[in-house]
Amino acid sequence: MSITEEIKHLKKEKNAVILAHYYVADEVQEIADYIGDSYYLSKAAQKTAADIIVFCGVKFMGESAAILNPEKKVLMPDLTADCAMAHMVQLEKIREMRETYEDLAVVCYINSTAEIKTYSDVCVTSANAVKIVRNLPNQNIFFIPDGNLGRYVAEQVPEKHIIFNDGYCPIHAAMSAEAVKREKEKHPEAKFLVHPECTGDLLKLADYIGSTSGIIDFAAEDDGKEYIIGTESGVLYELKKQNPDKTFYTLTENQICTDMKLITPEKVLQVLKEEINEVKVPEKVRIQAGAPLEKMLMLAR
Ligand code: 13P
Ligand code: SF4
Repeated sequence: MSITEEIKHLKKEKNAVILAHYYVADEVQEIADYIGDSYYLSKAAQKTAADIIVFCGVKFMGESAAILNPEKKVLMPDLTADCAMAHMVQLEKIREMRETYEDLAVVCYINSTAEIKTYSDVCVTSANAVKIVRNLPNQNIFFIPDGNLGRYVAEQVPEKHIIFNDGYCPIHAAMSAEAVKREKEKHPEAKFLVHPECTGDLLKLADYIGSTSGIIDFAAEDDGKEYIIGTESGVLYELKKQNPDKTFYTLTENQICTDMKLITPEKVLQVLKEEINEVKVPEKVRIQAGAPLEKMLMLAR
């Protein structure tokens, strides 16, 4: 039996589903039941009737699925796959901001640890951050951990006072405006589609700014033929699959989240077979981190 066949067989036998983020390797996306951005995956994890969820992504994603689904077993093919940005907040700074602003809302990007979520009022993803912040009753917002996404949201919602944190995604922050200009010169017809985790100078050059799903949907619906992609290169799998007649360029060859690439079909098979690498969140943390996640799912609807 091939790995794919064995995985298929075990999924049926154990009533399991495989969820995968667009940044994992092509061969992992090929075996997944649901592929999407962080927002879509958190909804898919909540909706599924499966007993076991195999989450192909980084730790905060598996953790969020486990927090939202205490009755299900969430397994991760590699428990060491982590998001660097998820840790980039000092809890002391959150306390300080709460003391400074009486009406403060701590808005926490889902790319954060469960512990950090317990200190926040509402979670967001890049797909719903603008909508949620705009509709909050609070005037003062501390946006954690991503400073770049925070600044993007502030531009869209100028009526709010948004305080930025200095966290960032090392992969998106490394993309440069010079590289965008160079690619635009090489491909003058190409549109630049970018993730809001990139710095503001890149966003200024964009034809479209959005989450991974947003970028994929834009390319599918747009009538152009060429696109420069400003996010992790894993999205190319879905972009090419949906648009075989369109051409996609990256800014460099290393737009790669090495943690996402730790997930392999072999590891998926192993966790399904042995039911190992279960994501465990202490009950107190689960309840406290679950509240801002549930609030996000409600406000983003
Ligand atoms: P999306 O929510 O757009 O999928 O982004 C997740 C992520 O990790 C971006 O670096
Ligand atoms: Fe985290 Fe960046 Fe990797 Fe996304 S691409 S999971 S933000 S390190």
